[in-house]
Amino acid sequence: MGNKPTLEKSGSSLDKKLLKRLFRYMIKYSPLIVLSVILLLLLNFALVIQPYLIKIGIDENVMRGDIEGLKSLSLLIFSLIVIAFGLNFFFNYIVQYIGQKLLMDLRMDLFKHVLKLPNSYFDRTPVGKTLTNVTNDVEAIRAFISEGVVTVVGELLKVLFILTAMFMINFKLALLTLVSIPVFILGTFLFRNSIRKGFAGVRKANAEINTSLVETITGIKEIILFDHKSKSRDKFEESNKTYLTAYLKVINAYSLYFPIIEIVSNISMIVVFFYAHSIIGESIKVGEIFAFFTYINMFFRPLRELAEKFNMFQSAMAASERAFKLLDKDITIHNIPNSIRSNERLEGKIEFDNVNFEYNKGNRILTGISFSIEKGEKIALVGNTGSGKTTIINLINRIYEVESGLVQIDNRDIKEYDLEYLREQVGVVPQDPFFFNGTIYENLSLFKPDLTMEKVKRCSEKVHADGFIEKFENGYDEQVLEEGRKLSAGQKQLLSFTRALIKNPSIIILDEATSNIDSETEKFIEDATRKLLGERTSIIIAHRLSTIKMVDRIIVLRDGMVVEEGSHDELILKRGEYFNLYQSQVFLLK
Ligand SMILES: Nc1ncnc2c1ncn2[C@@H]1O[C@H](COP(=O)(O)OP(=O)(O)O)[C@@H](O)[C@H]1O
Ligand SMILES: [Mg+2]
Repeated sequence: MGNKPTLEKSGSSLDKKLLKRLFRYMIKYSPLIVLSVILLLLLNFALVIQPYLIKIGIDENVMRGDIEGLKSLSLLIFSLIVIAFGLNFFFNYIVQYIGQKLLMDLRMDLFKHVLKLPNSYFDRTPVGKTLTNVTNDVEAIRAFISEGVVTVVGELLKVLFILTAMFMINFKLALLTLVSIPVFILGTFLFRNSIRKGFAGVRKANAEINTSLVETITGIKEIILFDHKSKSRDKFEESNKTYLTAYLKVINAYSLYFPIIEIVSNISMIVVFFYAHSIIGESIKVGEIFAFFTYINMFFRPLRELAEKFNMFQSAMAASERAFKLLDKDITIHNIPNSIRSNERLEGKIEFDNVNFEYNKGNRILTGISFSIEKGEKIALVGNTGSGKTTIINLINRIYEVESGLVQIDNRDIKEYDLEYLREQVGVVPQDPFFFNGTIYENLSLFKPDLTMEKVKRCSEKVHADGFIEKFENGYDEQVLEEGRKLSAGQKQLLSFTRALIKNPSIIILDEATSNIDSETEKFIEDATRKLLGERTSIIIAHRLSTIKMVDRIIVLRDGMVVEEGSHDELILKRGEYFNLYQSQVFLLK
């Protein structure tokens, strides 16, 4: 929150690069773009020629009392109005269509990229920031493409047409009108900066509002429990106020800028008036003066719009810079060429060989971890909070990548396996499972269409989840809100067991929940754990003595190092680290 709003660079080579990339998104729609430019050309022509025709009507028909001529001219002007209406409709539709398509493409690309980003990105980036990238930034780019670029081209065309018409009607008058242009440019230049700064502030405040919102909604329980409501409100109010202040700056600048431009255009008219007054009847006709006034009015509006669109261009450049930055974020964890994927299941032998790991540079979390687990063997990881148990598990799935050393499954570096295949083979029951907005069935099958209800039911029965599911009013079709707000801790665990079992993996990893649950659910969970582990190779971060009793071997961790290994009885006899942990009752003694 403390850092200053970053002002975007303009006119640099950076902009060119960004434009090139944006252009690549547009190239797909080039036929439509060409069509829209043609429509725009015709539309502007139809609009600009009208005052010219009226001038002819006044000077040629009205002045000479030519009623027939006036009639056909009126008919022509009327047809032009209708045609312009049609052109306008199609033009707008096409341009908005292109913009929305582009928005969709870019948003989809960003989303797909976010899905591939390594966990370390999410460790470092607030959710609100990514959210702003995928929503507001993309929208700013769309607005620029479908309103900005098009308006700029269109208005430039219009200015060109108007100038041509003015010079055709009366060269001197046209030159006189142009005298005010430098004043216009000066005004625009002066306001440009404050408007740009204002918009940069608006965007920054917007990201803050998003971050604050996401935090509050996801952390609402803590906010209530720890009586943090007024703090949250204050924080939100602050971002909200920053937003308001920044926007007021923009409004302030615009409120001054627009009237000033108005004055410039009015002065032009007065000049034309005075000049025309002195020569009327000689070299200038009434119709010409009418046409000039209309053109002067028409002339400054596009100029003003062009100045406004310049700001749009600035924000779009800043937005695309951020969006492309997200797209360029390295996907550090990816498949190597010819990665292994097969229809066969893995055997499930796991080996860590001198593994070192750090989340952040210079902060070693795991040091020289070596152990080996045979196919079908069951081991427990035990150690104080923060000793690195979850981290070890994250390395087996390649959620994070080892810094040095080797993690092998079936005597092969896990990097050689196709990521999807690897993760199919490893079933994980996380400590605090996440549930999506959807039905129980959808949450269990994780939206895989080939998973029949029958199979889902069979698996839930096996781990005793069916009992409470069937008690719901809609059974498996009961809606679960995001993060499973409806479910108790025990229910979440059993559902998470079902999820893992459905995958039928060769390796099971269980990060046991630490929460204490009622003794009946406890019994269910104990039996469910046994079923889930079955014949599979299993690693359990154990918090229950009953689970410890199920495993063949215990690996004891301290500060990211393996300090002891052996069976429960052996380690108790040894009276070392494990014995101490056991004594200090880190286990839920059941
Ligand atoms: N995403 C992360 N980014 C940075 N540090 C982390 C991250 N996750 C865990 N850590 C740190 O790594 C250490 C080990 O954490 P973890 O493996 O979760 O321990 P355990 O599961 O044994 O309680 C802790 O010191 C923790 O602060
Ligand atoms: Mg943990």
